[in-house]
Amino acid sequence: MADNTTKSTGPIFPEVKMNLVTPKSPVVGTVVKSEVCLKGGRKSASFVRHVEIDISGTPLEGNCRAGQSFGVIAPGEDANGKPHKVRLYSLASPTCGEDGEGKIIATTPKRVIDEYTPQKEGDDEARHDLFLGVCSNYTCSLKVGDKVQVTGPSGKRFLLPVEHNKHDYIFMATGTGIAPFRSMCKDLFENPSGATTSQVHVVMGTPYTTDLLYDDFFVSLADKHDNFHYHTAVSRERQADGSRGLYVGQVIDKKFDDVFGKILTSDRGLMYMCGLIGMQFGVYQLFAERGITDPYMTIKDELKDIPCSEWNREQMRRYIKPTHRMMVEVY
Ligand code: A2P
Repeated sequence: MADNTTKSTGPIFPEVKMNLVTPKSPVVGTVVKSEVCLKGGRKSASFVRHVEIDISGTPLEGNCRAGQSFGVIAPGEDANGKPHKVRLYSLASPTCGEDGEGKIIATTPKRVIDEYTPQKEGDDEARHDLFLGVCSNYTCSLKVGDKVQVTGPSGKRFLLPVEHNKHDYIFMATGTGIAPFRSMCKDLFENPSGATTSQVHVVMGTPYTTDLLYDDFFVSLADKHDNFHYHTAVSRERQADGSRGLYVGQVIDKKFDDVFGKILTSDRGLMYMCGLIGMQFGVYQLFAERGITDPYMTIKDELKDIPCSEWNREQMRRYIKPTHRMMVEVY
């Protein structure tokens, strides 16, 4: 485990507005667009939509920055007769909004459709009827013209740095974790002061090709800009050479020497991860194996004598911490 990471100071993040609208007194937005954003359209087994909400005239207008989240409160009550809690969604819209004036925000909700499974002691072991996620299904079902209660913004670290061109970027996503990277790529490449000159890599993980999200957008960015690179990690389909499907971390590993290692060991590299928590653990192990530690992550002494391939999740949770060049939003 050699540490071959160049030491440097961290990125400087912008000041952002937070909690201008709280769940106690949400404001009302209006849905102005809702469309399927899966590459396979209705051929995919998932249901994921791109939903745009007009928040003009509210305190949210002009105050939602790429990388932040906003809240949606579904109407009605939960099983205990209490109003539904706020659900946070990553912004998929750029800092200037979908309209260029900060009046329209967007997000990428995915329907949750499952069977009940016992979660805790005392739950009915025999129960397995249909379970529908409350807020994601509500948000996916909203139609153009519908009113929706919104809050926010929240989040102050999962942001682009102030000086875009001082850094190169690796964005890793699984599923709807791609939402903030659509926002950030729009900020980087569709900026009124010109497209970034930085190297930008998006690595997007989905089960099948049909589940890729905003694929047209990323393909067209790659066509237009030599410094934008779009990599897909499709886990349940064989590769062209017949080998097995890949996770995001495996794509990073495969292209480490030629691409990702160069960015991670330069003093310009920043990496962002959004999606399943399993991706974070996989990346921790890969980075440790490749000698990428500080300033991306610190490994406590408790793990120093255990080979990284043997680390379990609990150990990684306790003894590894992302540092100033690794931005993480996982669930
Ligand atoms: P799989 O489900 O084949 O194991 P979605 O959110 O659309 O379900 O996509 C999540 C994607 O992330 C899937 O391709 C899933 O693969 C993949 N995935 C699951 N676990 C990990 C992990 N530990 N690291 C990276 N990707 C993962």
